[in-house]
Amino acid sequence: MPQSNLTPINAATRLCAVLGSPIQHSASPAMHNAAFAALGLNWRYLAFEVDPKNLRAAIEGARAMNFAGLNLTVPHKLLAVDMVDELDASAKTWGAVNTIKFESGRAIGFNTDAEAIATSLREDLKVELRGAKVLLLGAGGAGRTAALKLAAENVAELFLVNRTASKAVEIAAEIKKQFPSIKVSVGYPKSDVDLLLNATSLGLKPEDAAPLDEKLYSLKQTRAVYDMIYKPAETKLLVAAQAAGCRTANGIGMLVHQGAKAFEIWTGQPAPVAVMRRAVEGSVYGV
Ligand code: ATR
Repeated sequence: MPQSNLTPINAATRLCAVLGSPIQHSASPAMHNAAFAALGLNWRYLAFEVDPKNLRAAIEGARAMNFAGLNLTVPHKLLAVDMVDELDASAKTWGAVNTIKFESGRAIGFNTDAEAIATSLREDLKVELRGAKVLLLGAGGAGRTAALKLAAENVAELFLVNRTASKAVEIAAEIKKQFPSIKVSVGYPKSDVDLLLNATSLGLKPEDAAPLDEKLYSLKQTRAVYDMIYKPAETKLLVAAQAAGCRTANGIGMLVHQGAKAFEIWTGQPAPVAVMRRAVEGSVYGV
């Protein structure tokens, strides 16, 4: 991180923060403070452990203290929808708020996660989303956003697989309603796909099973595999995908791009994306 460019903290310092629980491993402070330093901005970014029952008070406190903005992470993204004065189109579309901008005393909620998924898939895997066939594993918060974003990007066909099938069925129904031209089904595809995307949390812990049951679907049937998990850098799924000859990427690009967009919303300046990526990699992998 280019600490040398850090401006001194004084009464004019603008503050941003991420609120979440747990929060101690967040890479966002390293990422944003590196970006502020690179642009010579007198801004700082902090991280706060906030219990959901205190979320409203924390947002109000930040507003009262003239913070520039906030990020929200697990488990606050849905709760925050009802705690802002106004929802930007992105937050309305994706039904979740991960970024708040305070403007003239008003709290405006944004969602920068969905766009970050598409940007990272394009940048890191060179996937052409329009017309692609995609197998998506997971139907939690991240899976839902990914499924809707892929539909909005006009993929040709979407296959949703989740341990709790009813949640995949619900998302499929929502896609049919919002994007009637997209073919969506629940269960493994019968033929090859262009992309397999893991949005489950399986792989975060070393003892986790791989999220794909290769007896039901072979990695040889996909060209590219994206794992939203970025720690460890190579999950069992990504190792197996490389062995099967797939292009692979982990979720670090998503983390960087959701942050870059939030940075632009708060500061009105283009984000130094390469600086942010290096800072995240330093924070997450110690490189
Ligand atoms: P996130 O916000 O990261 O999406 P989440 O909403 O808790 O977190 O979703 C976690 C996802 O990982 C879900 O798809 C979950 O499957 P269920 O909907 O059946 O719970 C999936 N997941 C978590 N642990 C799993 C496990 N042991 N086996 C299979 N899927 C699992």
